[in-house]
Amino acid sequence: MTETFGFRVLATDGLARRGEVSMPRGKIRTPAFMPVGTGGTVKTMYMDQVRALGSDIILGNTYHLMLRPGAERVARLGGLHHFSRWPHPILTDSGGFQVMSLAKLRKLDEKGVTFRSHIDGAAYEMSPERSIEIQGLLGSDIQMQLDECIALPGEEKDIERAMELSLRWAERCKAAFGDQPGRAMFGIVQGGDKARLRERSATALSELGLKGYAVGGLAVGEPQAVMLDMLEATCPELPADKPRYLMGVGTPDDILKSVARGIDMFDCVMPTRAGRHGLAYTRRGKVNLRNARHADDPRPLDEESDCPASRDYSRAYLHHLVRSQEALGAMLLTWNNLAYYQRLMQDIRAAIEAGELAERSALISEGWARGDL
Ligand code: GUN
Repeated sequence: MTETFGFRVLATDGLARRGEVSMPRGKIRTPAFMPVGTGGTVKTMYMDQVRALGSDIILGNTYHLMLRPGAERVARLGGLHHFSRWPHPILTDSGGFQVMSLAKLRKLDEKGVTFRSHIDGAAYEMSPERSIEIQGLLGSDIQMQLDECIALPGEEKDIERAMELSLRWAERCKAAFGDQPGRAMFGIVQGGDKARLRERSATALSELGLKGYAVGGLAVGEPQAVMLDMLEATCPELPADKPRYLMGVGTPDDILKSVARGIDMFDCVMPTRAGRHGLAYTRRGKVNLRNARHADDPRPLDEESDCPASRDYSRAYLHHLVRSQEALGAMLLTWNNLAYYQRLMQDIRAAIEAGELAERSALISEGWARGDL
């Protein structure tokens, strides 16, 4: 296994790339979907199951783990890989985004963010340097810069100020991260819904010569068309030989369209969160298992799937579990949903290799449009 962090593009189809990120803990086949393991667990799933579905990397959250159980404690206990029994690559988000959406009494200035925990009200400070230090204590393989993300719609001057601040924080994070050949620190492009600001952010970040680049500040309330326009403004400004990660996205349709615009990596709570709310992703779109129409339905979600949760359990049983709020309902639906997402990524990778992404994407969308079986 390689000692240094690297990325290779193996095939292209239009702007879409089939690639491979490599690092000492393993390889990531791209385009990749990273299941969200916020607090050291992909909720309701055993790590072995997550792996068996074809996940090469999972995501963890600095914000949640620094509050509970604490980054220093995780480090003493051998790091997040050992603690959670996931020996493969881990990417950690830097915390800024979660502070802004979850923490109380937050204040942000040039130095960083101060906030109170949403769990017990305790006060914390997080600077770009402390975020990188925490991600190092966790043992993260791909660390994210601290950034500021503005909700959309937003004022242009606020978006620009946050984007420029994020650029300055990128430089500080790069310096704090230093030289770690087997790991990477990714910068985050900001700039809201303004192409001019996205281009400025992507160009300035590229000049820092980072090992990978994320696109942040999207899927925060804007229409899909705006998100895609922003990707079209951003991706051409990023170096072609580095991975590109679209943060917090998205629906299967968002993923297909973003891959076609040059994105390599994704993470999203949708498959796991939906699974805990009685929703199943299938080749024929989303199915709400709470609905009474499933009460007498002996058919599985998808008899052609190779995932036991999708193939072996009746819709009637899943409906019963969801309605009775049984833990197994959330477990089976999360399993089904992650299986669906990882299968989608596998199909996307194969389609790019075959030079047929557009045709196969159209077939996948047709299945969703046709509706439930
Ligand atoms: N997750 C989803 N969007 C973002 C973003 O803009 N910044 C960070 N740090 N995380 C995100």
